[in-house]
Amino acid sequence: MRLLTQLVWVFTVLAILLAVVLLFTYDVIKVEWISFMEIQPSHRQMEDPLPVPARSIPIEGPVSIPGMLPPENPVEADEASIARGSELFEIHCRMCHGQTAEGNGPIAPFLANKPANLTSPIVQSKSDGSIFLTITNGVEGKMPPLNENLLVHDRWDLVNFIRTLTIED
Ligand code: HEC
Repeated sequence: MRLLTQLVWVFTVLAILLAVVLLFTYDVIKVEWISFMEIQPSHRQMEDPLPVPARSIPIEGPVSIPGMLPPENPVEADEASIARGSELFEIHCRMCHGQTAEGNGPIAPFLANKPANLTSPIVQSKSDGSIFLTITNGVEGKMPPLNENLLVHDRWDLVNFIRTLTIED
């Protein structure tokens, strides 16, 4: 009889221990262990990007200075730059502006604001700096700013590529 009581006690204690372990295993009780990778400001995929700290400038230097004229094109329009621009256009612009840049990309029919025809005199008459700023800042409510996806140099390569598009009358 005494042995039975002892066994009951042992099993009761074991069951309680198991229950406590399971509470942690299944995160019923969650302990935030210190993990240094996690203690940092971060954002998940598709979340809004973190705001740029005040008064900071990109490592590639200031893109443009507010209140000043659009920047001058510092990248020579050589073959390599145009080739890079063409490739970047495929990746970042073609879906809206189209293979021939006439504003007829595959998703253009679904957009409320039609993408501009980049071969048109309206666009081609703009300065390099102005096109650069369009890529950088987008067009409010119509075209997204692409400064996050493209380095400053990439954007000038794109400008150089856009310049090679023949003007259509
Ligand atoms: C989500 C679709 C979309 C993408 C991606 C996009 N654009 Fe646009 N873009 C537009 C729309 C829409 C307009 C027309 C805005 C308007 O009506 O003023 C436009 C206008 C422009 C203009 C003319 C702006 C002006 O002031 O007349 C340029 C230049 C331009 N885009 C270049 C680019 C380049 C270069 C890329 C790729 C790096 C790009 N766009 C990617 C939708 C897009």
